[in-house]
Amino acid sequence: MKNILFVNCCIRKEASRTKKLADFFVDELEKTGDYKITELCLMDEGMTYLSEGFFHQRDDLLAQKDFSHPRFRYAHAFAQADKIVVAAPFWDLSFPALLKTYIENLCVEGITFGCNEQGCFGTCEADHLAYVTTRGGFYEGTPMEMGSKYMEVMCQFFGIEKYDCIFAEGLDMGLRSVEEILLEAMEKGKELALTF
Ligand SMILES: Cc1cc2nc3c(=O)[nH]c(=O)nc-3n(C[C@H](O)[C@H](O)[C@H](O)COP(=O)(O)O)c2cc1C
Repeated sequence: MKNILFVNCCIRKEASRTKKLADFFVDELEKTGDYKITELCLMDEGMTYLSEGFFHQRDDLLAQKDFSHPRFRYAHAFAQADKIVVAAPFWDLSFPALLKTYIENLCVEGITFGCNEQGCFGTCEADHLAYVTTRGGFYEGTPMEMGSKYMEVMCQFFGIEKYDCIFAEGLDMGLRSVEEILLEAMEKGKELALTF
């Protein structure tokens, strides 16, 4: 059985359309019987971004190569997962700051990546990350979509080979029913769940 880490950054929690789409995808994965899923709800974590004392503590621990501190638990869990699902709404052309805060906590040299004379290389176990998002307008394939794009490049940085984005967009445009748009995206999620 493989371990899936499900990182939930759907700020509006149960009211979130992104969460509905992500739940559907995760349920499809669960149905295969191949995975044990662990959800990390970022909204419940009280996570801190790097500044002042929190930043210096990290520097001191890294200088001592002490990776056992509880602050590194997010990086360890991410580095050890077999597959990863991240869900976040499209905000301000990318995603909520809470997800960036999580990423700051993940980027730990010696846990999720390493460096040598040639540069940095990812050290995460996962071979596939799926990013689930919903957007109010239409941005797919435009240079203004920087949420999925950023996550894809972070996967390369972490050494995760495969990346897919399950998205629903135009949800706030009033052109089609939200239900209909979400159902279409769910169908894509269903397909991906078979090859994840
Ligand atoms: C703070 C905030 C910023 C947003 N920024 C954008 C944006 O830049 N472009 C866009 O198309 N929609 C934007 N939206 C709309 C959301 O992407 C859209 O409503 C999405 O479906 C929300 O997901 P949720 O239901 O999971 O919360 C924004 C919404 C909020 C609350």
